[in-house]
Amino acid sequence: MSKHILFSSAMSFLFLFILFTQISCNKNEKPAMTKEEMQKRGAYLVNLAGCNDCHSPKIFTAMGPVPDTTKLLSGHPADSKLLPIDAALVQPGKWYMGSSDMTAWAGPWGVSFTANLTPDEPTGIGTWTEEVFIKALRSGKHMGIGRPLMPPMPWQAIGQSTDEDLKEIFAYLKSLPPVHNKVMDPIPPNQLASVK
Ligand code: HEC
Repeated sequence: MSKHILFSSAMSFLFLFILFTQISCNKNEKPAMTKEEMQKRGAYLVNLAGCNDCHSPKIFTAMGPVPDTTKLLSGHPADSKLLPIDAALVQPGKWYMGSSDMTAWAGPWGVSFTANLTPDEPTGIGTWTEEVFIKALRSGKHMGIGRPLMPPMPWQAIGQSTDEDLKEIFAYLKSLPPVHNKVMDPIPPNQLASVK
């Protein structure tokens, strides 16, 4: 065999080897999802994780509260009136309690109000990026850098989801109709008596 033939067979072998490994690598890679597919899977995850239980205002039916589908995930309604809280009942080791629509929660941490997760710019997550959203849920800090998030926001569990899952949840939240609702800041424990 001439040197030339040897060289070209070696090259063909190398070419086929590269081609084959490329094909087998591509087979394992998931094709990128479209925006619509991400939103659809995000809706599925939000439903499964029960975000509506706490983050959606409710309509009261004979069977109890159900999410108000005209204001999904818009957080504790700014115009709702809080009932007075018996500070003696929400000490560590005693009760912690939620408002009847489950958007406000009192406990040893004071009172927390569920955030507006719709893409309204001044009051929701309209200005948030994917990175801010992931950082907030992984770190348990407001927007990933601010004050600690109060209970009962289950960031410790949700924050363990994969980047893909969190990106899909975020894509779904960004696709919601924006609801203008400025949620109040948490009330510290020493100011429970101010809730009248
Ligand atoms: C058991 C009630 C509860 C559930 C379930 C819940 N949350 Fe929350 N969430 C809260 C409360 C309360 C706050 C406000 C905490 C605060 O202001 O410190 C909050 C705040 C947030 C914030 C604001 C974070 C920030 O940086 O200010 C995001 C984002 C969020 N929740 C996303 C979600 C998502 C997504 C789900 C579902 C996968 C979810 N939450 C499920 C109670 C809940």
